[in-house]
Formats: sequence, C-alpha cells, structure tokens
Amino acid sequence: AATKGIRFGSAVAWAAAGADAGSFANPAYAALLEHDCAILVPENELKWQSIRPDAARFDFTRFDAILAYAEAKGMAMRGHTLLWHQRRWMPGWAESHDYGAGTAEATRILTEHIQTVCRRYGARITSYDVVNEAVDPASGALYETALSQALGGAQATLDLAFRTARAEAPGAQLVYNDYMGWEGGATHRAGVLALLRGFRDRGVPVDALGIQSHIGIYSATPIATLVANQSPAWRAFLDEVTGLGYKLVISELDVRDTGLPADVATRDQAVAEYARGYLDLMLGYPQLRDVLVWGMSDKYSWLQSFEPRADGQLRRACPYDAALQPKPMQNAIHAAI
Ligand code: XIL
Repeated sequence: AATKGIRFGSAVAWAAAGADAGSFANPAYAALLEHDCAILVPENELKWQSIRPDAARFDFTRFDAILAYAEAKGMAMRGHTLLWHQRRWMPGWAESHDYGAGTAEATRILTEHIQTVCRRYGARITSYDVVNEAVDPASGALYETALSQALGGAQATLDLAFRTARAEAPGAQLVYNDYMGWEGGATHRAGVLALLRGFRDRGVPVDALGIQSHIGIYSATPIATLVANQSPAWRAFLDEVTGLGYKLVISELDVRDTGLPADVATRDQAVAEYARGYLDLMLGYPQLRDVLVWGMSDKYSWLQSFEPRADGQLRRACPYDAALQPKPMQNAIHAAI
C-alpha cells in the first residue's frame, strides 16, 4: 500500500495489559497491527461516552494510551468521533441536560467539546470524523438530538462542529462519516449527497466523505452478479461526491456474511471476492488514500455482538480469523491495493 501512496489501517481498542482483546495490549493482536497498519482509529475511546463522563469533566486516559502506542510504533491516528449525531449514541447526560432557553448553553457544550479534544491533540490526530451518522437512512433527513434542538437544529449543529474543528485543528483532514453503502439505500445516499452539497453551498469546511464500508452479502446471489448489479448506482454516487471536491476515506471496512452458508471455506471465499470487487471499484478513485478495517480479527469484531449470525456461527467479517491467521479476505485486500 505504502508504495502506492495508500495507507492501510484498523480500529483498535483499549484493554488492560495482556487482555484477550482487539487491543494494542494484546501482544498477538499488536503484532498484526504493527505488521500491517500505517494508521489506527480508536474503536470507542474518543467518543463522548468514553471521554466525557458528564458535562463538566473529560477523561482521556484510555485514548491517551492508544495514541502513545501508535506514536511509539510510528502509526498515524484518526479521531473518531467529535459528534455521533444520534440520540442512541449520545451520552445520557447530553440528552437529559438542561440547555435552558436560547442556544448559548448547547453552543458552549459542543464548542467546548471540540476545542478540548483538538487543542489537546493538535497535529497528533491527522484526520477527524467530525460528525458521524447524521442522516436518517429511512428519510434522508438529518436526525435531531437534545443538543441539536437546543442549538437551533441539526444543520446549525453540524456546521458549528466543522467550523470549530477547522479553527482548532487547521491542519487536520475533516471528515463527514456515514454508512450509506453500495448495497442499496438510495434514500440514504440522496440524504448524504444533499448534506454534502449544503456544506459546500454554505462554505462549511469539510474535506472528505468517510465511507464506513460495513458492507454485506445478504443473499445467495453469486458475488460477481452482486458486484455488477450494485456498482453503477454506487459509482454515480461517488462521482457526485468527488465532483463536489470531496476526498474519500474507507473508514470502517468489514463484511457481513449473512446470506452465506455455515461452511467456512465457502464463506471466506465469498467474503474475499466481495471485498475485492468493492475495493477494486473504490481504489479506482484517486481521491481515496486511506483504507481502514473495523478490526483485524473476527474474534474481536463488533459484529459478533451487534449483529450475530442467525446460525450461531462466528462471523467471518475481518481479514484475520479468530486464531489471528490470515484469511482469503486479507489476501484480497493485499491484491486489490
Ligand atoms: C461500534 C463499536 O465497534 C462497538 O464496540 C460499540 O459498542 C458501538 O460502536 N459505526 C461507527 C462506529 O461509526 O463507531 C461503530 O463502532 C460501528 C458502526
């Protein structure tokens, strides 16, 4: 990847030393990170829930440990995320906070948050997911939260987040990150496109679209057919996004092996072929420079708990298996880049 100007990376978690986890503190997992990755992103440790236990306090202990590890190993760091703009992912205190009348208190809470993170880390974080998942896939409209309602609405909230981030971290890449994908979801894509157009029209400083890329195989249709069927609409979307001047980041790649039988070899082959088709399309865009997976090993993938397979088998969504051995998907990523 490096010889082509591409950075490969992964999510990483905090854990106690020696824990069985997808963490730098697990030596076997750390060895994979150090072998393959040029850039890391904290899986949860920079989210509001992790760093801001209440309105008045910040706690950076766990993220600091991740950053210290990355720096010691010469890896870059992404900041995920300065605002996960959905009620279910905001901390409880922010949803129940007394914002009072007017927009002052909500403005203070949000700007203070972004200032505190950006001033603390400066250029040590090279790219921020300033806003995560603001578009409702069902309607294409922006979500609202207690914070955004108190601040005069979602659009004003998102604009303020990006403007504050640019002022505090002028050298960092600022990303709007979402999970609209190539499997469908035309309404979701249209909503994201409208948001990105609006940012440009209002002069809001957004540099890139983060494409989470939690892609998935949901049917028994042959992979080559899925790839062929899904690509035209997805390309049209990417053409519009890049036409507006946005860079692209693959920020959270993994593959849901849903419409596939239990047989491991069959699943691994299909997942690899699907990932290859996706990456070939994506890497055709010179605006794409960073490719990050949401975890290196199936064993620690968030999907095992967030969306387990119906048949109880471990999902095979990541480049390495539960024993940290490379799978066909690892090969496919290597070959695609
Ligand atoms: C997930 C983590 O992997 C889980 O551990 C946590 O419980 C929930 O969040 N999109 C995102 C990520 O932007 O922050 C999510 O991470 C996965 C989906």
